Amino acid sequence: MNKLTLNDLPKSALTGRRVLVRVDYNVPLDADGRITDDTRISATVLTLRYLIENGARIVLLSHFGRPRGKPVPEMSLRPAAARLGELLGRDVAFVGETVGPEAVEATRKLGDGDVLLLENTRFIAGEEKNDRELARQMAGLGDVYVNDAFGAAHRAHSSTAGVAEVMKGEGKPAVAGFLMAKELEYLGGALEHPKRPFVAILGGAKISGKIDVITALLPKVDRLLIGGAMANTFFRAMGLQTGTSLVEDDRVEMARGLVQGSGDRLVLPVDCIVTDRLEAGAEKQVVSREAIPADRMVADIGPRSVDLYRRELEGAGTVLWNGPMGVFEVPEFADGTRGVAEAVAAATDAGATTIIGGGDSAAAVSEMGLEARMSHVSTGGGASLEFLEGKELPGVAALSDRDAS
Ligand code: 3PG
Repeated sequence: MNKLTLNDLPKSALTGRRVLVRVDYNVPLDADGRITDDTRISATVLTLRYLIENGARIVLLSHFGRPRGKPVPEMSLRPAAARLGELLGRDVAFVGETVGPEAVEATRKLGDGDVLLLENTRFIAGEEKNDRELARQMAGLGDVYVNDAFGAAHRAHSSTAGVAEVMKGEGKPAVAGFLMAKELEYLGGALEHPKRPFVAILGGAKISGKIDVITALLPKVDRLLIGGAMANTFFRAMGLQTGTSLVEDDRVEMARGLVQGSGDRLVLPVDCIVTDRLEAGAEKQVVSREAIPADRMVADIGPRSVDLYRRELEGAGTVLWNGPMGVFEVPEFADGTRGVAEAVAAATDAGATTIIGGGDSAAAVSEMGLEARMSHVSTGGGASLEFLEGKELPGVAALSDRDAS
């Protein structure tokens, strides 16, 4: 990577210094405000333990939800501070302010190895506008900047890009944390020098949301396996009947071009699970893709497709998966996603490097308890998609360049 990481900083740059760490603690909560999945918090522990061991005074910044520039009590980061404290086995102080005098004072009072989490950066209107003055105030909270918020790296906000630019301008280092570095190493490695065969699996509802990824990946992969409602648009492009399934009519031409132009690299489901409603308890039926009834919709890939995809994954060198194969939140329509998840886990066991994009596919893998059997599960949903599309991530671009050090 051409950016400095935490490993490039000497201990003297950390001990007794205020280290401002941008994390992504945008985690799911239940109706009672309890954290239901703390993956994004636990994924930062490696960086934080290293900083604690090196006597840094840690100041954490994160966004949470989309409060649109004003305080929303339900979107406070206080519960995240408590959970982080449990994970680190030490107190994590919390201040209900982000850059005001109380926040600054709290950073000044920190002792070596202390950890402080400040309030949601998006409670301030300037954050999402990458306001320079706000970035300056944030820069005043630390002597070193560490970005470990891969999940927010595709946002050019004050706490991601702006603060890094300001700190660099002040001669302070702005480096990638261990989580950020790991994400870039796995995702970047897959794109730049994949072990072959390189098999990508893309699912999800819409081609429109994934078209840039499909276009960017097709020339690089040996196989691109398609699942999810996105497959319906391809079916339509092949002249098949799709019943009442979700189809993006305005993308059919594009899908036809992809089918015609990619030879055997693009692999579509051969059968599907159809139903009349996408609800638990609904009746379901397995049909070949040529026999989708006029009054049914596709809810998942079928068992022959799972077998086909399993065979494609056997012997893969690199596997990249983004997006579920069906409506996996409904147990009746989760078998396709489950079957593919198991096949990817088996590929890891057989020596492949397997990478799960964030968002729904990461949630599915975690729900199935298969996380530990994947080489890497990304903590970034939108960020991993944009990275795979080949876009520059502003939060990464703003970090100190290796050769400029
Ligand atoms: C995410 O959950 O993808 C990140 O935390 C970014 O959140 P955002 O889409 O609200 O910017």
